Amino acid sequence: MAEETYVPGSNLDIAKMPGHWLLARMGKRVLRPGGIELTRRMLDTLAIGPNDHVVEFAPGLGVTARLTIARQPASYTGIERDAAAATAVQKFLTSPHYRCLTGSAEESGLEDGSATVVYGEAMLTMHTQGQKARIVREAYRILRPGGRYGIHELGLTPDNLNDEKKDAILRDLSAAIHVGARPLTSSEWRAVLEAEGFQVQAEHTAPMHLLEPARMLQDEGLGRTLRIVFNILRTPQARQRILTMRRVFRAYQDHLMAISLVAVKPEVV
Ligand SMILES: C[S@@+](CC[C@H](N)C(=O)[O-])C[C@H]1O[C@@H](n2cnc3c(N)ncnc32)[C@H](O)[C@@H]1O
Repeated sequence: MAEETYVPGSNLDIAKMPGHWLLARMGKRVLRPGGIELTRRMLDTLAIGPNDHVVEFAPGLGVTARLTIARQPASYTGIERDAAAATAVQKFLTSPHYRCLTGSAEESGLEDGSATVVYGEAMLTMHTQGQKARIVREAYRILRPGGRYGIHELGLTPDNLNDEKKDAILRDLSAAIHVGARPLTSSEWRAVLEAEGFQVQAEHTAPMHLLEPARMLQDEGLGRTLRIVFNILRTPQARQRILTMRRVFRAYQDHLMAISLVAVKPEVV
């Protein structure tokens, strides 16, 4: 199966590659901070049904795409920046109404008002404030009035976390995962959505336990978890990097969280 054989970034240097592709290389499939549980809550809140035209920004390895198409929406379009990941997702989308395109969520190329649901996970966090705004604006543009937008991202807590602490978290996280990580507080995430015209209707949070054993078992199952652990143990460079990532996540566990917001594009603007 494509999902089993394809690993994005397999040609990259382990010491430098983005943390999410390193985890994927070790066999991890669920690459979002709140795990599959928070994904399910987001999808339940989005209430995707047979009449929906769904767009997913950054499907990655397609874990959520599979959950979405199990709900049999009228159409599904993934917009994924990594061409090889997009191809791998496309391989399991057999219906002509379901597709995954290579492209950027900042400029999807999709028509105005062509979607009833847009969502994206673990992708806004890695963008600057300006890029975040452009991606959210793009979601707004392609949604019909009344359409729903879901995000699942890395959050900071409490809401009044001081700037010094925020800067330290951003610095240490980015150094560990080799991607510019810019998580926001709940109020800040809401403001990003509201600034583009969305009305936030629901918020769910979960602990940031991406690399904790219990979450790994929940997300990946026993067999895959054992395989991931085995792969990490036999790849010293990867082990070192992943332990560093987990050390940073644990060091800031009181201030990191996973957050999902679901918002609507108002019917009358
Ligand atoms: C941390 S992974 C998350 C993948 C998947 N959403 C998940 O939660 O398992 C980040 C993904 O975002 C994709 N990505 C980043 N920026 C993007 C953009 N502007 N447009 C589309 N995809 C993007 C990357 O290629 C990668 O697949």
